Amino acid sequence: MLELMINREVVKIASLDADTMLLNYLREHKQLTGSKEGCASGDCGACTVVMVEPDPNGELSYKQINACITPVHSLHGKQVITVEHLKQAQALHPVQQAVVDKNGTQCGFCTPGIVMSLYALSKQKQTVSHPSDYLAGNLCRCTGYGPLIEVANTIASQSIDDPLEQDASAVKTWMASVDDAACQHYARPKTRLELAQAKSQMPSAKLIAGGTDLSLEVTQQGRSLPELIDISHVDDLLTITETTSGWRIGAAVPMDRVHAFAREHFPSADEVIERLGSLTIRHRATLGGSLGHASPIGDIAPLLMSLNGRIEVDDGVTKTLFAPEDYITGYRETLLRDHQWISAIHLPRLAPNQHHAIYKISKRYEDDIATVTLGINMTIDSDQRVKNCIISAGGVAAKSVRLHELEKVFVGRPLSLPIVHAAQDKVPEVIQPLSDVRGSARYRVKLVQNLLKRFYLQTQHIDVRLVHHA
Ligand code: FES
Ligand code: FES
Repeated sequence: MLELMINREVVKIASLDADTMLLNYLREHKQLTGSKEGCASGDCGACTVVMVEPDPNGELSYKQINACITPVHSLHGKQVITVEHLKQAQALHPVQQAVVDKNGTQCGFCTPGIVMSLYALSKQKQTVSHPSDYLAGNLCRCTGYGPLIEVANTIASQSIDDPLEQDASAVKTWMASVDDAACQHYARPKTRLELAQAKSQMPSAKLIAGGTDLSLEVTQQGRSLPELIDISHVDDLLTITETTSGWRIGAAVPMDRVHAFAREHFPSADEVIERLGSLTIRHRATLGGSLGHASPIGDIAPLLMSLNGRIEVDDGVTKTLFAPEDYITGYRETLLRDHQWISAIHLPRLAPNQHHAIYKISKRYEDDIATVTLGINMTIDSDQRVKNCIISAGGVAAKSVRLHELEKVFVGRPLSLPIVHAAQDKVPEVIQPLSDVRGSARYRVKLVQNLLKRFYLQTQHIDVRLVHHA
């Protein structure tokens, strides 16, 4: 039995297709039509709702999610708050009132989603340093973002008196009462063993964590996913642990947690993880999902290559580590066999003399596919010579790649402008990218050449970052 809470109503569902998305369910089964469909792909935010679940301290955590690409089954035991629930007894919720007060709406199509993102912002217990991040997944075609960012800043600087807080204790009690009874065609294993069993019982089922990529097969390509195995409860996939050489990050850890981890331990990766998708997407997306579909322009594979990371693959009995360049064998092809899953990634610590950078060039800052992603990691000896060099790239071939011939230009030589120029001259020999809507082949070659120089300038402590935050 699938059981979730929608606003104040506990909903028990005996039978529902595994791939039914929350937005369709809200609009068609519950007549909650405040959440809109704009893109049905997680890009516009018109469908944004707030997912409520227990945090590790037993308190409620509030995260905005895209209802259009979230399977209803993945919300078992959780509360969903929609825009209809904010207004209580004819009075606008303080967040709604703040949008009105700043003239933050015109045609209103985006407004329910924007209000829900702002509501999630208002529920954060810690100080939010960039409140506008909460709006990064919401597109508005007419109001302009100035007033909305003002509202976000106001909300983040105040304590909002939330009338829905009166329900919190009843919500917690209900969450504690929900059992784990399985649903047909949608498995929710909790251990490696249960996951292995689910895979053998449902051999054609796809694995799903946040669904931010897989769900697009349903909403964009019209396919059905009749059986799913939800890996977002498997304990082995949910932890970040320190190892003797670095860290192990579970494959189903949501990307917002990975981002917080990277800020602390791999600050050079902070920006590219932030730009993997909006905060709304990062609440659901995972490393395992990004690596599982092996997109040629994924940001994570070039990042992992550049950090000399490893992909841990499990079959319930044996775990095997692969270098990402070996694991990805071709266009959306990997070494992963049907009985296996990605369980974690391993990242070694960076040494003080390792210089690492990863650059993502895309048309839109958040929530966009890269034209080119370039990762560079150089170990520089005390005599200023490059001892080791990794250069990885996405968007320049049918898969994410190591650019070994470029690496050889640097190894054993001092990192200097003439060597950078020699590497730049070699780039057209090393990559032969395609031209597509995101950029011509010539543009991509130029990007790689320019990013090599940008890396060099950064090692010389010349700040070439762009400032994006409002
Ligand atoms: Fe556009 Fe969901 S409808 S993000
Ligand atoms: Fe019209 Fe935002 S108010 S799309």
